[in-house]
Amino acid sequence: MSRPRLVGISANLQRPSRTRVLVEAIAGAAAAQAPLEVRLFDLVDAGPGLGSAWTRSALPLPARRVVEAIEEADALVVGSPVYKGGYTGLFKHLFDLVEPGALANKPVAIAATGGGARHALVVEHAFRPLFGFFNALQLPTAVYGSNADFTDYALTDAGVRARVQDAAGQLAALLTRGLLPGIRPEDASAGSPVAAASR
Ligand SMILES: Cc1cc2nc3c(=O)[nH]c(=O)nc-3n(C[C@H](O)[C@H](O)[C@H](O)COP(=O)(O)O)c2cc1C
Repeated sequence: MSRPRLVGISANLQRPSRTRVLVEAIAGAAAAQAPLEVRLFDLVDAGPGLGSAWTRSALPLPARRVVEAIEEADALVVGSPVYKGGYTGLFKHLFDLVEPGALANKPVAIAATGGGARHALVVEHAFRPLFGFFNALQLPTAVYGSNADFTDYALTDAGVRARVQDAAGQLAALLTRGLLPGIRPEDASAGSPVAAASR
């Protein structure tokens, strides 16, 4: 049997990136607990054509590959730096181009980084509504790291590292113990008041 596909997507616009480190840490810790096929992307992989593509059909190949990997994944780790109090505009733009039913019932781990701790609740008030639209199975533990939690782009804060382990454990359990209901993505999306209101 093939391994569940875990895709990590980090919305960093520069490398090295703390957000990418956090996404990698969650995906790596999940893969240490369960046999997973892990693929990691950041927005640099999608290329500059992502921002200028206003429709799915206008996406250049590198960006289309990222969107398709997101849609074909069994689970996601999503992360963005905080820009002006929210996720980056390109992070939202990327998910605007994802099929509405593609993430239904799929486990999604949420991660964000910011300069300081003041915007830590961005994971709750910005990311959760977006992945609620998709009917994704959002993990209970979302992970936020500020600059002080990293040393030379290594995640060094014990509290954030513990949350990484919590999220990874939830992800691995959902992917390996068959806890997900067998609802077809198109049915789940059609029944959602959020999805219906946005069409
Ligand atoms: C345009 C811009 C806006 C930012 N806005 C915020 C903000 O509102 N709140 C915050 O805590 N950090 C803010 N930051 C800091 C970044 O979120 C922080 O340095 C982040 O960890 C960078 O992630 P990266 O290393 O993955 O690029 C901003 C940075 C930039 C470049």
